[in-house]
Amino acid sequence: MAIPEQFLDELNARTDILDVVSGYVTLNKKGANYWGLCPFHHEKTPSFSVSPDKQIFHCFGCGKGGGVIRFVMEMENLSFPDAVANLARRVGMEVPQQQYGDKERRQRRERVLALNKEAARFYHRNLERPQGAQVAAYIGKRRISRRFVNRFGLGAAADAWDTLIKAMAAKGYDKADLLEAGLAVAGKNGGIYDKFRNRLMLPVIDVRGDVIGFTSRVMDGSAPKYLNTPETALFKKRSILYGLNYAKNTKRPNMILVEGNIDVITLHQAGFDNAVATMGTALTEEHVRILSRYTRELVLCYDNDNAGKDATQRAIALLRGAQFAVKVLQLPRRRTDGGELVKQDADDFIKYQGAEAFEGLLGRSENSVEYRLGEVRAKYDLDQDEARAAYLQEAAAIIAALPSPVEREIYGGRVAEAARVSAGSVEQEVERLRRRRAKEARRKEERQALTPTMSLQPARRELRYTNVRSARAEEGVLRVLLLDGDYFDQLEGLEPSMFSSPLLGKVYQLLLQRHQAGRPCTLSALEGVLEGPEMDHLTAVLQAPLSRGSAAQALEDYIGVIRQEAEGRGGLSQEEELLRMRARFKETKGYGGKGQ
Ligand code: CTP
Ligand code: MN
Repeated sequence: MAIPEQFLDELNARTDILDVVSGYVTLNKKGANYWGLCPFHHEKTPSFSVSPDKQIFHCFGCGKGGGVIRFVMEMENLSFPDAVANLARRVGMEVPQQQYGDKERRQRRERVLALNKEAARFYHRNLERPQGAQVAAYIGKRRISRRFVNRFGLGAAADAWDTLIKAMAAKGYDKADLLEAGLAVAGKNGGIYDKFRNRLMLPVIDVRGDVIGFTSRVMDGSAPKYLNTPETALFKKRSILYGLNYAKNTKRPNMILVEGNIDVITLHQAGFDNAVATMGTALTEEHVRILSRYTRELVLCYDNDNAGKDATQRAIALLRGAQFAVKVLQLPRRRTDGGELVKQDADDFIKYQGAEAFEGLLGRSENSVEYRLGEVRAKYDLDQDEARAAYLQEAAAIIAALPSPVEREIYGGRVAEAARVSAGSVEQEVERLRRRRAKEARRKEERQALTPTMSLQPARRELRYTNVRSARAEEGVLRVLLLDGDYFDQLEGLEPSMFSSPLLGKVYQLLLQRHQAGRPCTLSALEGVLEGPEMDHLTAVLQAPLSRGSAAQALEDYIGVIRQEAEGRGGLSQEEELLRMRARFKETKGYGGKGQ
């Protein structure tokens, strides 16, 4: 790692996680910890905790956790070195200039961006050349105007294996550059060839105006229809919104989210310069966070087939609690000349019905509750009593989840009207469901309180424990050591190799090394070496209660268990072990029987 460890230790010592987190999250003290609403997932009751003693955060809801550096990385979407630089600035420290790796990485990044820009220019110019004629004709067929071809930087990849490679070589870019940018692919005998061939090229441009990669479309029916730059640090599909570089400047009051890249271009051309698309992937929390910086209202406009409807419902669920309003624009199906009803996307709709008709739909787009109630209603024939009852059930479930009583009353009234029953009876049903929900939520909380560490397996499969009994004791050892460094003297020759969990063993070894070197032994000190999911798990491990009074005895017991298991005794299955520990836990906590 490029940043000296002493520097990180000092940064950790000078930075108070409570200060930093308080800048983002409103925290309230409860017991030894501070609590607030988790900034990493949506929630209504606080399950995000900060421990000033341990200098860590941990969310009991989504499981994210770590020290102050991880917090800033996640919050600001920064790399490790960038988060360190950010925190260093806060406390007036200067990151030592010796960080070559970092500088080198930045230079590589700049080079790939420059190469991408050259490649985009090359593809664009191809449209004027014979090798781009076919793509130019295809663009005409898609009715994209000259002006918008230029605005979106569209281009053509020739039907050949090395035209890009040659053109870029002439500009000084070598094999490694092209491979890193994902513009070329390694062949069998050490050579490389153009990744994109015989395709319409669409550069993907971020909000800074950099070409971070490409997407491309075939012109015939062959597969894959769309081909993208491979995932790299530069090209992360989960956070890319195609068209945002222009949409961020729109004068319109909202943004429109469509499925396809070409939908975006057609919409912009039709005057809807507020359209964006994900890169053929589902909407992610990261997209939502980015969108919230640029708009106050998002209109979902997915294709009107079943896949599009499913994606709409999933997006609505993900957007619950987003900081902006959510609406749904429903595209009608189109009747072909043959009289058949077919799916259409935004691009088709603009082509057949025109921009004005789209403006009309946009104006009539429904909020997400109306949309969902409409979808439910469409499933039932309300002239049938049985169907009416089923409709009421499903609709009441949607209404019961609304936090606002005013909204519940409004939509309850509408549903009652549609089903031709009294508003009172819908209200009763909604209230019944709300009581049941509240009870279920309480039960769930109780269950969670009952099984704090019992069910705690690392979320990542490759970190899972194979020997639960030993792993629990290993967790215990780490808890004791992180509570108080004095216990390093009472380890009775416990070796990292005796640990059954590679993760816990690694952490133990790192702590031992730090202790021997006289350096601080805290979890946050290990941020540079542990990965996110490893941190998540360890911060969860540290949540289990441990009192100073019992630490010495506990440590001795833990060491005994680890040795025993390491020597191959024990012999209980994981399941038996869990049951046994659960029973023991209930005894000691006196929870016996409640809430089961
Ligand atoms: N997509 C993809 N890979 C595929 C198919 C689709 O990445 N093999 C992504 C692309 O980003 C595309 C979006 O999913 O823009 C929507 O796909 P689809 O509905 O199939 O295409 P359209 O946008 O309708 O494209 P076109 O109008 O060009 O057929
Ligand atoms: Mn389309």
